[in-house]
Amino acid sequence: MNAFIQGLPKVELHLHIEGSLEPELLFKLAQRNGLSIPYDSPEELRKAYEFEDLQSFLDIYYQGANALQTEQDFYDLTWAYLKRCEQDNVMHTEIFFDPQTHTERGISFGTVINGIDRALKEGEESLGISSQLIMCFLRHLSEQAALETLSQALPYKDKIIAVGLDSSEKGHPPEKFARVFTEARKAGFLTVAHAGEEGPAQNIYDAIELLGVSRVDHGVRCVESDALVEQLIESQMPLTVCPLSNIKLCVFESMADHNIVELLRKGVAVTINSDDPAYFGGYMTDNFLAVSQAHKMSKEEIAKFTLNAIDASFIDNEKKQAYRQRVNHYLNSES
Ligand code: ADE
Ligand code: ZN
Repeated sequence: MNAFIQGLPKVELHLHIEGSLEPELLFKLAQRNGLSIPYDSPEELRKAYEFEDLQSFLDIYYQGANALQTEQDFYDLTWAYLKRCEQDNVMHTEIFFDPQTHTERGISFGTVINGIDRALKEGEESLGISSQLIMCFLRHLSEQAALETLSQALPYKDKIIAVGLDSSEKGHPPEKFARVFTEARKAGFLTVAHAGEEGPAQNIYDAIELLGVSRVDHGVRCVESDALVEQLIESQMPLTVCPLSNIKLCVFESMADHNIVELLRKGVAVTINSDDPAYFGGYMTDNFLAVSQAHKMSKEEIAKFTLNAIDASFIDNEKKQAYRQRVNHYLNSES
């Protein structure tokens, strides 16, 4: 089964590009930019990646992002992630970036997006990996700050397919950003939001109702409401689930306790994603392997995660059909 998973064509829909900053690259960028790091080596830094909840991770993650300063840094970050995608047979990826993490430090919006975009274009041309970019608002910051970020994004609208909502879920419910998301939709952006990761099932309802999302990021706490699970099945609202992340941030005690396979079998449109792979111990293949090692599944069930992700992606129908064919062809040839 491991070889099947390794070779399976994949689609990633929940990846924070800043969360793919490996300690080795972080050290290299810090040196290039003349910054000091309070750790002696990448290995020592990696050992510090022990988290008890989302906030304890975010504190370290935002510190790590300080190493990113120039357009070349954002290019190098994105290129390193795309090379990992190539190894994992990722055909298509939809990438989050957090502009406010950088603009708050005086890095321009253009520096961030131009570096990322240049790598994505090269990834498409030379690696054959298609991609889309999703701009997230940091929910611990104000509505006003999000509105300003939205206006900074308008000149780059052709490079951004959707807006999202991430950072601390507790105390910052979807309703705080209802007006921002209405403005974003009016400007032509699709919308997604983190909900039901650490926050209650109500946040999932509200992300759907108040923010008009096309997908829910995480969403694993939907099981707290049977009616919500029914609604998710009926509407086929996709959930971008991040199994290794959920274990690292103590959303579930162990992978055996994770509900992704139960949700799949009920007919919820769940997908597998890596979230912040440099911090949570693995990229796409690692996430698939971790789920399949803890839950016995058929090849058809494993491939369904990719088929769900294709349906949930923001690519055109023709390309979706070509990607479905690749998965079905692989499945037929491997069974
Ligand atoms: N930012 C990066 N990773 C995140 C996560 N798992 N939840 C919320 N915000 C994030
Ligand atoms: Zn996330």
